Amino acid sequence: MHLLKLSVSLLVSLAVSCVQAARVPQYQQLPPLREQAAIQDAWTVERVSNVPQLLRKYEVDAWLMSQKEYAEDTVFWSLKSATQFSARRRTVDLFLANTVEDASFSYNWIDNTPEVWSELRSVLEAHNVSSIAVNADTDVAFSSGLHVGEFGKIVQELGPEWEKKLVVEPMVGVEFIGTMVPGRLEWYRRLQETAWAIITEAFSEAVIEPGITTTDDVRWWMRDKIQQLNYTTWFMPDVSILNAEDPFGDHPMTTDREVIQYGDLLHCDFGVTALGLNTDTQHMAYVLYPGESEDDIPEGYIGGLKQVNRLQDIVKSNMKVGTTGNDILKTSLKQMRNEGFDGKIYCHPIGDWGHSAGTLIGMFNLQEGVEVLGDLPLLDNTYYSVELYAEYFVAERNQTMNFYQEEDVYWNDEIKDWDWVWGRQEKFHLVRPPVDRVFRVQGP
Ligand SMILES: *[C@@H]1O[C@H](CO)[C@@H](O)[C@H](O)[C@H]1NC(C)=O
Ligand SMILES: *[C@@H]1O[C@H](CO)[C@@H](O)[C@H](O)[C@H]1NC(C)=O
Ligand SMILES: *[C@@H]1O[C@H](CO)[C@@H](O)[C@H](O)[C@H]1NC(C)=O
Repeated sequence: MHLLKLSVSLLVSLAVSCVQAARVPQYQQLPPLREQAAIQDAWTVERVSNVPQLLRKYEVDAWLMSQKEYAEDTVFWSLKSATQFSARRRTVDLFLANTVEDASFSYNWIDNTPEVWSELRSVLEAHNVSSIAVNADTDVAFSSGLHVGEFGKIVQELGPEWEKKLVVEPMVGVEFIGTMVPGRLEWYRRLQETAWAIITEAFSEAVIEPGITTTDDVRWWMRDKIQQLNYTTWFMPDVSILNAEDPFGDHPMTTDREVIQYGDLLHCDFGVTALGLNTDTQHMAYVLYPGESEDDIPEGYIGGLKQVNRLQDIVKSNMKVGTTGNDILKTSLKQMRNEGFDGKIYCHPIGDWGHSAGTLIGMFNLQEGVEVLGDLPLLDNTYYSVELYAEYFVAERNQTMNFYQEEDVYWNDEIKDWDWVWGRQEKFHLVRPPVDRVFRVQGP
């Protein structure tokens, strides 16, 4: 009986370790630039082909963008080809919801003569366009990229009859930028795996020597690693030592101390950028004392990680497509409190931008709801950063601490649900004690 039990548990642990071994994140090399450009341009073609349908969904006949070199519309960056580095001269894009006969639905001018306006007018006339969306929203960044001077120019050149047909429909820009075509997922997952691989190495004895390495050392190691891999990033990596001196304050609770010590609970906020995509991840690590193993992680920390994992599940299960971010926030906070714990929820769309287009599910300082952006509906076929923390009482420290996590999800159309792009943290990264140094000290 005992033997049987033993062999079963041995098998189980072998199986578990195999699964875990398979999940060690690897650095994913980017292809040569020429190949990267081809990959990105194929995605752009796929995205642009969705535009007519998008315009029909929001009941506008056309979508007009006009910009000058270095004064680009926000949408320009999601429309441009991989070999375009800025708008040139006057760059005008026009998309049509419905075309007559087999005319094109998409027009692009790069011109600095008045002809661009006469040609634009004739396309609009030929298609009997009665509403033209322009990105002149007052609140949503992704739909307010039309520069005010350029807006004046459009009105002046098109004249009062066309001016009457200009409309603002913020969801056109939001949905165009926020929609992640299926082809992107394979590379997004590789980016995410690379981000995990960098965090895994940064939060290990390969980079951290307790008593010597500072949090700043780790941040800059991450920056250099990103560079070595030919990736970039969209924000300075953040590395901190978690503390709990102010459990009810409004800012992340970290120590002022910079030098990492044994027994520290570490936190990072880290993202990478490549191929026009961005990631955003927050993980935690524990610094083992000499002689300690994984079994010595304080129970309170393990409980805290479980608690924040639970909060991730709650939020993910409430992310119903079509619901507003504010409703998802309210439902999730309520469910969290009903389950007897506290925390904060501040999730955002991610993709073309680190903080990309779509509804917001809370912000760090706005747990009652977010005006305008929180009232947008949740899109499908998009990526989100599930960003939050759970409070948990750590008996070993006699303190309530915040356990932070951030992990990217994508809409999995097969299961009609959100899925982790690479995975989520369920075990602490470990900075293991320097075995050989201990051996040397103890040796003859
Ligand atoms: C143009 O559209 C208007 C309605 O928007 C319609 O009344 C008119 O007949 C259309 N003209 C042509 C030439 O299609
Ligand atoms: C980074 O790019 C350089 C220059 O193209 C190349 O030689 C190197 O192999 C690349 N490194 C990685 C890790 O992809
Ligand atoms: C734990 O903290 C509370 C208040 O913060 C204090 O009253 C209590 O004495 C502490 N318990 C121990 C065992 O230190």
